[in-house]
Amino acid sequence: MTTSLIDLRSDTVTLPTERMREAMASAPLGDDSRDGDPTVRRLEALGAERAGKEAGLFLPSGTMANLVALLAHTGRGVEVLVSAGSHISRTEMGGVAGLASLFHRELPAPHGAIDLEALREALSPGLAHNRLATGLVAIETSHNDAGGTVPSLEHMASVQKLARERGVPVHIDGARLFNAAQALGVQASRITAFGDSVGFCVSKGLSAPIGSVLCGSAAFIERARAFRRMVGGNLRQAGVVAAAGIVALEEMIGRLAEDHRRAKELASGIAAIDASLSDPREVETNIVNVDLSRSAHLAPEWAAALKARGILAGPTKPKRLRLLTHRHIGDGEVKRALAAFREVHAGMAGSRASSLPLREGV
Ligand SMILES: Cc1ncc(COP(=O)(O)O)c(C=O)c1O
Repeated sequence: MTTSLIDLRSDTVTLPTERMREAMASAPLGDDSRDGDPTVRRLEALGAERAGKEAGLFLPSGTMANLVALLAHTGRGVEVLVSAGSHISRTEMGGVAGLASLFHRELPAPHGAIDLEALREALSPGLAHNRLATGLVAIETSHNDAGGTVPSLEHMASVQKLARERGVPVHIDGARLFNAAQALGVQASRITAFGDSVGFCVSKGLSAPIGSVLCGSAAFIERARAFRRMVGGNLRQAGVVAAAGIVALEEMIGRLAEDHRRAKELASGIAAIDASLSDPREVETNIVNVDLSRSAHLAPEWAAALKARGILAGPTKPKRLRLLTHRHIGDGEVKRALAAFREVHAGMAGSRASSLPLREGV
């Protein structure tokens, strides 16, 4: 039996495939911000095609894709409406305010889908009404904090309709866009049709080492390219990494269904140990949130006990662990993780609580 660690903290831990390494080694290269790197341009065109948009822009991270989208869509001092727990508002170090000079407002979002009444109420026509103008609505799919949930196409159509009625653009944070498309059983472009822009990562479940592609109209991407330079995201021979992104889009989307199946199995197995910990019906993609609110022990204690058994899990809240399935998690790894949960659960039942520091995961 292997004794290597099983890393369920994130799908960002995935390593590039052999095909990616080969493509990286042989990619045609150029100075991307001078003449254009041919491999980067290929990835941008492919990304735009997958997203059904006119143009794409390669960026080093999903966080920078969101920041550049915020800058390119808005002027300073307007309000951005986001879902409760959104990555933009919670996990991007306040870039929305500190770097883009925008105000953000979180709206209630059951299962990651912004409440439509709250959105209607919050969309503001502007300063004349003593309220900040709404500059952008940002939706997230799959929704990380909500546990990888995927708003329905009907819901996104309603968000777009409400925003358009007020002349407000919609940005889709689709860091895990292809997981969302897999969950809905549609092409990604069906989802992205509901946004003026979309950013997706090739560095998560798709296994490329680095990178995101922001897509939108040609005019929007031209603005975004200028803002990417402003925030220091100008790249040179970036085809070295973009080559892996091309392989990610061409070869790695189809297997995401496996990750979703294993996430459900993980959640079902954990629920069989203790039904208060997880509800497999809530698992829509590759994320499983483990609810420890009925446990006497905090998430860091669970994480430490699991780690002692070779399982890495992310304590994302004091009473919540987050587990993600990905390319390095096969059926054997799910089985080992469940065996560890069974032992830790039994051990926790008979021991006293203590407190350990909490660390956020991505
Ligand atoms: C929904 C969402 N948006 C954006 C990001 C940021 O991506 P990156 O880590 O590449 O900056 C993440 C990362 O997990 C995410 O889950």
